[in-house]
Amino acid sequence: MSPVLVNQTPQWQALQRHWESMRGQHLRALFDADPKRAAAMSLAAAGLYLDYSKNLITQETLDLLIELAEAVDLRGWIDRMFAGEPINTTEGRAVLHIALRNRSTRPIQVEGEDVMPQVKGVLTRMETFVGRVRSGDWRGHTGERITDVVNIGIGGSNLGPKMVCTALAPYQSENLRVHFVSNIDGTHLVETLRGLNPARTLFIVASKTFSTQETLTNAGSARDWLLTALVDSSSVARHFVAVSTNAEKVAAFGIDPANMFEFWDWVGGRYSLWSAIGLPIALAVGFDRFIELLEGAHAMDEHFRSAELRENMPVLLGLIGIWHTNFAGARTHSILPYDQSLRYFPAYLQQLDMESNGKGVTREGLAVQYATGPVVWGEPGTDGQHAFYQLIHQGTQLIPADFIGAVHSHHELGDHHLKLMANFFAQTEALMRGRTYDEALNELLAAGMDEERARWLAQHRTFPGNRPTNTLLMERLTPHTLGALIALYEHRIFTQGVVWGINSFDQWGVELGKQLANVILAEIQSGKVTSNHDASTHALLERFIRQRRA
Ligand code: F6P
Repeated sequence: MSPVLVNQTPQWQALQRHWESMRGQHLRALFDADPKRAAAMSLAAAGLYLDYSKNLITQETLDLLIELAEAVDLRGWIDRMFAGEPINTTEGRAVLHIALRNRSTRPIQVEGEDVMPQVKGVLTRMETFVGRVRSGDWRGHTGERITDVVNIGIGGSNLGPKMVCTALAPYQSENLRVHFVSNIDGTHLVETLRGLNPARTLFIVASKTFSTQETLTNAGSARDWLLTALVDSSSVARHFVAVSTNAEKVAAFGIDPANMFEFWDWVGGRYSLWSAIGLPIALAVGFDRFIELLEGAHAMDEHFRSAELRENMPVLLGLIGIWHTNFAGARTHSILPYDQSLRYFPAYLQQLDMESNGKGVTREGLAVQYATGPVVWGEPGTDGQHAFYQLIHQGTQLIPADFIGAVHSHHELGDHHLKLMANFFAQTEALMRGRTYDEALNELLAAGMDEERARWLAQHRTFPGNRPTNTLLMERLTPHTLGALIALYEHRIFTQGVVWGINSFDQWGVELGKQLANVILAEIQSGKVTSNHDASTHALLERFIRQRRA
């Protein structure tokens, strides 16, 4: 039987018809008509509370979305992922970030072998190493205590650990500072190393493949910086450790394989913070806190694996996202954490979501005929309110947004947190309700404005509302709730990938630019443009080479 694109299924078409009956409705009216709406459209799991009632959906919408999920066999795909089947078909790999945080005694098999002993083995090595560095037992080459850790990695080998270390800053040891260098722009390394003492600095070179140009270039320059100060090449052994799947390349770089923390090809780069890629996290907050992070993710995994689709938080978020992207015509998705510690969460989700679901071909190799992954973006509230919220409120695009906040802050300074959260709740209410022309007019008249001006101004002060939001609330941002939050988004992305029929776990699209960059590097190094570029690129390269020479 030839594969069917999801938009050709009767379930998809039923949703299209349903959208036609929904598009004229307003959330205000849905709330007015059903006092139980918020209660019926909210749920708790793994320490997170989700209210999804402020989306333009009804119980019928949910029924139809669940039917779509059943038609694409979402449950079967979840089971296949958890069973270690090679669902990343273009790379022939299992997808088992869930094994890295499997806190149960359940074995997880890849090609007939239980991977849990290996996972636990690396965790034990991490625990020992983290204990030694944090206690001061692991010393630098000259006998000094390590005070600064610099993680060198990019993409999944940077964004996850950097986001988590920032999010868990209140748990960090004061004696150990963790820094991140990712960009090949020398400015990043130079500015990070400025002020650091080589004798007290430990580098983690984090790269799944250990062949990423940015990371190897930064690591080489970091090694030069170290050796300029410490001279003795044997000092590298005390100041460099690696996290990788590629022991050969780690050794070729000059890092003792005894100082390498392993992970495996069934861990996708953007899903790897739970592996040894999380070493900077464990160093920053301690190994026990790192385990709490894994436990939070595991709790969400268990929920995702076992809850009914209709009561399943990642599934619901994924399906509501499908509703917005494929039926309501949204092209972006905004992530708005009302928590300064989560300031890198939108950037982290950009890779997680856009590298996973930025695909235009189905698993079977057919061109999709519908939108797939949206543009993901965002900033912490309340800064975003004073920058781009205007467009969300009154612009012409539909921008679904996730609001993420906590009941308690780690820094209860005066009434800051209450003011922050007042904005959090107010924005979702305003986006949902809007303000009618009559409400705007009456406010102006009540303030004493003359009628003609009030009628004109009221048009500008009218808000359409009906702007969809999800509200995610947690007690406090802890390692456990953070782990659950990240896993929630991982599984939301998985759900959407299954509905769209794409492989969320490869990333061929980033390869072409990398290949061309190698060709161009040789040309700008030699000062001669020899290959066949388009006229624009050719002229730009010649101009660059000329100006470098001048
Ligand atoms: O950007 C492409 C990519 O392959 C990502 O998927 C990955 O996270 C990143 O490069 C870094 O790769 P590595 O960990 O192998 O250095």
